[in-house]
Amino acid sequence: MAKYPSDVHGQYMPLLLAKDHPELEVPGLMYIDIWPVAPPMLAVFHPDMMAEFTQTTSLPKHPSLGGEFRPLTQLNDLLNMSGETWKTWRGIFNPAFSVKNILSLIPAFLEEIDVFVDQLKGAAKSGEVFRLEDKAISCTIDIIGRAILDIRLNCQTSKNELQETLKRQIALMWTSNAPDQLVMALNPLRPFRMWNNNRIIRNYLRPHIERGIHEHLNGESTGHKTINSLATKAYLSEQDSSKTNAIDADEHFMDIAIAQIKIFLFAGHDTTATALAYSYYLLNTNPSALATLRAEHDAVLGPNTSTARAQIATNPALLNHLPYTSAVIKETLRLFPPVGTVRKGQPDFYLTHPETGKRYPTDGFMLFGLSFGVQRAEEFWPRATEFLPERWLAKEGEPLHVRKNAWRPFEQGPRNCIGQELAQIELRAILALTVREMDIEPVFPDDSPVVFGEKAYQVMEVGMITGHPKLGMPVRIKMRDES
Ligand code: HEM
Repeated sequence: MAKYPSDVHGQYMPLLLAKDHPELEVPGLMYIDIWPVAPPMLAVFHPDMMAEFTQTTSLPKHPSLGGEFRPLTQLNDLLNMSGETWKTWRGIFNPAFSVKNILSLIPAFLEEIDVFVDQLKGAAKSGEVFRLEDKAISCTIDIIGRAILDIRLNCQTSKNELQETLKRQIALMWTSNAPDQLVMALNPLRPFRMWNNNRIIRNYLRPHIERGIHEHLNGESTGHKTINSLATKAYLSEQDSSKTNAIDADEHFMDIAIAQIKIFLFAGHDTTATALAYSYYLLNTNPSALATLRAEHDAVLGPNTSTARAQIATNPALLNHLPYTSAVIKETLRLFPPVGTVRKGQPDFYLTHPETGKRYPTDGFMLFGLSFGVQRAEEFWPRATEFLPERWLAKEGEPLHVRKNAWRPFEQGPRNCIGQELAQIELRAILALTVREMDIEPVFPDDSPVVFGEKAYQVMEVGMITGHPKLGMPVRIKMRDES
């Protein structure tokens, strides 16, 4: 890895190794042992072998994931739960992520997107170069605030205590044994800081959870299915109806509700924000795709950009009639998936190579489902390095048709991403309200390093497991009517 920029994201490593040491790769799979920096790893980037441990069998998450999240949620969260407890909570939260429920939240999302659009317009006016990712993250947190708690967090316009504390807490999470992480993890003040951050987050969220309970008990809820309202409903349905103030009865519920809210804030914000930043990047570098996208918005939302917002507010289902926009998002997530799954290998569990029939042991290894690898592989994707949204419109039998199991930015199988519809609808709405009005141009320094031909490669940020665009994706914006 010393050959490459030191900040390159870990999910690039197996592909870089395969490029430099083809003798180490069995097509689609590589054993990598860099212990003690990370657990011995079996990186898998063959679509059907990835399906073997996530879909055919869903192996348990690797304990290293729990090690990272324990100080944040004590593992009382959907991402880290397992077995029957996970099943119960997934069932409780699924209704919040139905397309119907998400569409009912669109008017609220639009209020947050308005702020984002205004900020981009402000940046266009000043001509400044800024980190697009930062503004995108604040916007996605504000949107999640509506979806999870039905409140405005206002992260885009002011410093929000919840976001700031969560950011500090995430920076203290121990993601690997790399030297800088070890220094951070061995700091004697770390446990106190983490305890204090958790205390602040708890104090911030508690009144909202209590409000949810009181609204529910008094029949005053808004009708939106949020993470908060669904957790409350499930909790109260198990309580003795004679109890008038159920919340005082059970601090355990408060612990779980807070842990769940934290994981939804964590899992949903930077993944969606980086997808947005990379969409603008890829559209800028592929002008014909950008032109097709704009043409679709003209056709579906009308050529007058100033009425698009009202059109979507009146008829949110229009967001489900933007096939090319959907294709742009899918293609972006193909080239820049932010994260892969990590599972625990088992003594009696072998991966079987579908072409050779050869079996590979998994015991003692962390199985790393490398979406980044499989989604860039020439064997499974024609013209794999090109940004071609058209492939998502190709029918079965056509050369660009997408192969089964090969697209996995949200992973597949029972532990797939619960927020995938929310993320994609939100991204469609933001693109529909920005791309026709402005040109968003990435501006990297001339001497910025290049990985796989790109200055905008994914980097590792402190405490984050997900890939982030280099330098936060520096951009300059021009309004189109002024250019
Ligand atoms: C482009 C955006 C997103 C991407 C690429 C993404 C990706 C993923 C992936 C790969 C997983 C599986 C993780 C694993 O196996 O350990 C996952 C799980 C999860 N995601 Fe997302 N995600 C996105 C947006 C969201 C949003 C918006 C939310 C919620 C607001 C969310 C909430 C979750 C949760 C709670 C899980 C755990 C689900 C379970 O285990 O049942 N994600 N996501």
